[in-house]
Amino acid sequence: MVRPYAVKGRKHKKRKIEKVVEEQKDEVLEAEEEEGVKEEEAGSGGEAAEAEDERRAEEAVEQMAGIPIMPPVEGAKKPGVIFVLEKATLEIGKVGKAFHILNSDEHAHYLKKQNRNPADYRPDIIHQALLAIFDSPVTKAGRLQAVYVKTDKGVLFEIKPYVRIPRTFKRFSGLMLQLLQKLSITAVGKREKLLNVIKNPVTRHLPANSRRIGLSYSSEKLVDLNNYVAAAASDDVSLVFVVGAMAHGVIDKEYADDFIAISEYPLSAACCLNRICGALEQKWRIR
Ligand SMILES: C[S@@+](CC[C@H](N)C(=O)[O-])C[C@H]1O[C@@H](n2cnc3c(N)ncnc32)[C@H](O)[C@@H]1O
Repeated sequence: MVRPYAVKGRKHKKRKIEKVVEEQKDEVLEAEEEEGVKEEEAGSGGEAAEAEDERRAEEAVEQMAGIPIMPPVEGAKKPGVIFVLEKATLEIGKVGKAFHILNSDEHAHYLKKQNRNPADYRPDIIHQALLAIFDSPVTKAGRLQAVYVKTDKGVLFEIKPYVRIPRTFKRFSGLMLQLLQKLSITAVGKREKLLNVIKNPVTRHLPANSRRIGLSYSSEKLVDLNNYVAAAASDDVSLVFVVGAMAHGVIDKEYADDFIAISEYPLSAACCLNRICGALEQKWRIR
């Protein structure tokens, strides 16, 4: 069953959320004025480059119209898992005439001119992390309850478990841009929001009967994840795993019931999520 996405704006979205997103745009525009970026980029050959940028942006949005969602899986009443991905670098920038999700590969020049460190702009981390979750047998078995992503600018959004995450970075980037501009994305002909910017803090969206487990390489509590999950998972508790989607730094551990390291080595977010899903599959006998 294939249903396409549609992007839907919402005029009366809560002011607080709009403010955070607007602040992002304002920051970028102010920085551009200071740096005189516009003139440089619109210089010789600039118009052709801008036209190409716009053509690509439109193409990315057109491609999104064909992205399907997965049909909901029966039996989702069994205990499930929730993921919170923190500090994702999803920041909008106006490069030339078009808005983009800034990334270190394509926008290094633009970022350096604004005295920003390109290495901090890694939206590929959250892309890989989401693919690790949504491709997992845990998700395919209907045990994924929700995914929350918090950007390092403080924008919080929810992704419904049956969304198909775009597999290419370009399409993913286009989807994130639309989400942060319009604040929600719905399926065509449906009212339900597949991706939706929501109010902070994330704790207000977590079930009361949940166990929140934060992951960090810096934690002194090094666990065997399979044993840990086997002991923590039960029929009446939802497990919430909090993983960082940034290149450097530590997650917010304020709301975590436990704070664990799962390896003696620093791992990528995607690797951690693969391990978590693997441990849950073992516990829940998902083959
Ligand atoms: C690239 S790391 C960020 C590095 C960060 N210094 C840290 O806290 O591990 C992305 C995320 O992967 C998780 N992570 C990486 N290595 C880990 C480990 N050995 N144990 C537990 N979590 C880990 C953390 O949630 C981290 O925020």
